[in-house]
Amino acid sequence: MGLYSTAMDAITEYTGLSPAAFFTIAAMMVVVYKVVCGMFVAAGDYVAVNRANAYALREPVQLGDVTEEELRAYNGSDPEKPLLMAIKGHIYDVSRSRMFYGPGGAYALFAGRDASRALALMSFDPQDLTGNIEGLGASELEVLQDWEYKFMEKYVKVGQLVSERKTEHIGSGDKMHATKNIEESGVEHTPT
Ligand code: HEM
Repeated sequence: MGLYSTAMDAITEYTGLSPAAFFTIAAMMVVVYKVVCGMFVAAGDYVAVNRANAYALREPVQLGDVTEEELRAYNGSDPEKPLLMAIKGHIYDVSRSRMFYGPGGAYALFAGRDASRALALMSFDPQDLTGNIEGLGASELEVLQDWEYKFMEKYVKVGQLVSERKTEHIGSGDKMHATKNIEESGVEHTPT
């Protein structure tokens, strides 16, 4: 506790800023740095980027109902899989913006997740990486709505989040592509 307050006092003393202002500015500088870095490609990454671009040009595959756990696999760690991200339970293929959402990108933390709360609050706090939008105010919901419109316009919707998927196996192979949803009415996404 003593160390914490000493650190906070030191920040105020040396920068003249409150700790909250200091950390906000630091977070902004990290974002600017990452966004700018995302615009350039290291020579060694050239092949990987070309492969990723080729992937982005493919027609997005419709996945249908997906659980949050299944969505995690589409966070860019597997270059053979599309990059997916959800807003309000609607899943979008964001592969064409790999420089933002791919590994090392400024917004990589949103990939493979429903980032509704983080986007509404304009937050990078890992606690806000959830589709749970309970307790948000009108202006935050408006911010989220703007993000949703942006995504609807820019990306293809490829599925929706469900709390639990009831599936019937119709063959072997990739689980995501070899299962058929047997729940016709669709399950509402209940944020966790
Ligand atoms: C200093 C703060 C920030 C700066 C300078 C910044 C800058 C940028 C820039 C230059 C872009 C690219 C825009 C484009 O070409 O379409 C971008 C995109 C984006 N920003 Fe930020 N940003 C900041 C903070 C944030 C915060 C706090 C969030 C949310 C928590 C956020 C979420 C996003 C997302 C999701 C995209 C990608 C949108 C897409 O897929 O087209 N940004 N940002």
